[in-house]
Amino acid sequence: MMMISEAMNEQMNAQIGHEFGASLQYVNIAAYFDDAGLPTLRDHFFRQADEEREHAMKFVRYVLDAGGALRIPSIPAPRHQFATAEEAVSLALEWENTVTKQINDLLGRAASERDYVAHDFLEWFAREQLEEVSSMDTLLKMVRRTGESGLMLVESAIASGRALSVSGPGESHS
Ligand SMILES: [Fe+2]
Ligand SMILES: [Fe+2]
Repeated sequence: MMMISEAMNEQMNAQIGHEFGASLQYVNIAAYFDDAGLPTLRDHFFRQADEEREHAMKFVRYVLDAGGALRIPSIPAPRHQFATAEEAVSLALEWENTVTKQINDLLGRAASERDYVAHDFLEWFAREQLEEVSSMDTLLKMVRRTGESGLMLVESAIASGRALSVSGPGESHS
C-alpha cells in the first residue's frame, strides 16, 4: 500500500541524495581542518557529517514506511580543496541554505498534495534547518572575526560549548 505519491517519492529520493551529499561534504571539510591542525573544528564537522547521514536515514525509513520505492541517486564527489577556513565554512553555509530551500519545496509539495503525514514528518526538518543555518552562520561570523590566524580562539569557543547552538543545552539533536 502506497502512502506516498510518485512525485513525492521521487523528490524524497533526491533529498536522500542531498543529505548523503552534505554528509560527504562535511567529511571533507573535517579533513581540511584536520590538515590545518584544528581538531575541534575537525570533530565538529565529523559530528555534522554524522547528523546529515541520520537525516538521509530518516528519509530512507519514511519512504520505506510509506510503501515507496527507495532509489538512492548517485552522489557527486564533494569538494576537497579549500584555500581558507572561511572558504570551507562558507561552502557549508551554502549547503545548509540550499537544503533549507529543498525542505521548503518538499513541504510545499506535501501541502499541495494534502499529504498531512509527510507534512508533519517534514516540519521536523524545517526546524532543524533553522538551527543548522543559524549555527553555521555563527561559525562563519566567528571565523571572519578572528581571521585565519586566530582560529585557535574558535577552537576554544567550540570546545567550551558556549558557541554554536548545535550542541546547546537540552537539545537532542537528532
Ligand atoms: Fe540535513
Ligand atoms: Fe544540515
